[in-house]
Amino acid sequence: MAKKLWEKSIDVNPEIERFTVGRDRELDLLLARYDIIGSIAHSTMLKSIGMLTAEEMEELHKELRNIHATVENGEFFIEEGVEDVHSQVELMLTRKLGDTGKKIHSGRSRNDQVLVDLKLFTRNGLQEICEDVMELFHALIKQSERHKDVILPGYTHLQVAMPSSFGLWFGAYAESLADDMLFLQAAYRMCNRNPLGSAAGYGSSFPLDRTMTTELLGFDSMNYNVVYAQMGRGKCERNIAFALASVAGTLSKLAFDACMFNSQNFGFVKLPAECTTGSSIMPHKKNPDVFELLRARCNRLQALPTDITLIMNNLPSGYFRDLQIIKELFLPAFTSLKECLAMATYIIDRIEVNRNILDDSRYDAMFSVEEVNRLATDGMPFRDAYKKVGLDIEAGRFTPCKEIHHTHEGSIGNLCNDKIEEFMQGTYDSMDFGKARDAEAALLNR
Ligand code: ARG
Repeated sequence: MAKKLWEKSIDVNPEIERFTVGRDRELDLLLARYDIIGSIAHSTMLKSIGMLTAEEMEELHKELRNIHATVENGEFFIEEGVEDVHSQVELMLTRKLGDTGKKIHSGRSRNDQVLVDLKLFTRNGLQEICEDVMELFHALIKQSERHKDVILPGYTHLQVAMPSSFGLWFGAYAESLADDMLFLQAAYRMCNRNPLGSAAGYGSSFPLDRTMTTELLGFDSMNYNVVYAQMGRGKCERNIAFALASVAGTLSKLAFDACMFNSQNFGFVKLPAECTTGSSIMPHKKNPDVFELLRARCNRLQALPTDITLIMNNLPSGYFRDLQIIKELFLPAFTSLKECLAMATYIIDRIEVNRNILDDSRYDAMFSVEEVNRLATDGMPFRDAYKKVGLDIEAGRFTPCKEIHHTHEGSIGNLCNDKIEEFMQGTYDSMDFGKARDAEAALLNR
């Protein structure tokens, strides 16, 4: 049996084959589950329009679920000489079911198969990322509340500036994640539209019921225009990459702060001992390698939208093999970000804060603005108060009052963490993960 779906009479040059298949036999394994789910929905629809008998559909479903079991237990693989997961699944169906297996490809192309596989893969990946982001968010809010009264120097230009607090510091990263969640929500909604039925990119003369596959697969709606559905390849990945990059940007900044605050020269936080690593020569070392690697990995993730853009940029409409390469960058990004989120949550949960930072007189000057504001509240014009305090500091006459009374929204004394939580939860709840999960489970278990 020929292993290429398109093999007719000419033998395939093995060098060309190796080059064109690239890493698909390895990477497409990540899509196998979704290829099967898509095929179950497609064959259900083919039966409904009379392209398959009920028995043929049942046979296909049974066999597709058997193949799914091999994916679940790790036995599924793409054979030597087989190009991709779409070819492998069809080959297995045809070996087992003969002509019935050969009928499943009516009204579809690998172009819309890979589109739907990617959408389902991404939908699941985004669900997991959103859940992991929520966990880190809650860890940050918890720490913010726990340490809301512990003062921390705030910096501008990396020069001691004004009083900040651990309540503000932890809470700032929580609110940053709440904004990132808006990106994830947009990415999820854009991803959650059905491309199946666009076939090679121009639809089909079979009377496909795309509404049916949209419902079966639990999509919100479809990519209606078949040309646009194909144009979504690359665009969808790039936009989702922007959402992942936004989360990664929050994490890399958090990691840099944590590394810096953990340094002896700052000594503001202490990483749990089990989260630090040693040196081969310096016996005293407890290095923050975890945060450094997290920072590097998250910085690399921020290049992803650009990497994808460079691959798909300036392609006209219609399918091109260029798009295959995007999978190499895009698919592994989800695991990488999830690993970073898990590490960050673990450490943030356990990080210790220094409650005695203010004992060190080098931070005294950060109370200068507090003093200026006190004089201004008592009636001295702000500019005069500013000048007086400045001169006092220069003359060594400034003794800081370390009482802090910040009351406005989002300040040290009024963090508004409840508002931040409400905003985050609203965005998260607007994505109906249950609908997608139920649809996939129903297709696999029926
Ligand atoms: N491996 C291919 C990809 O990821 C699948 C689609 C192949 N389509 C084609 N016309 N050669 O793009």
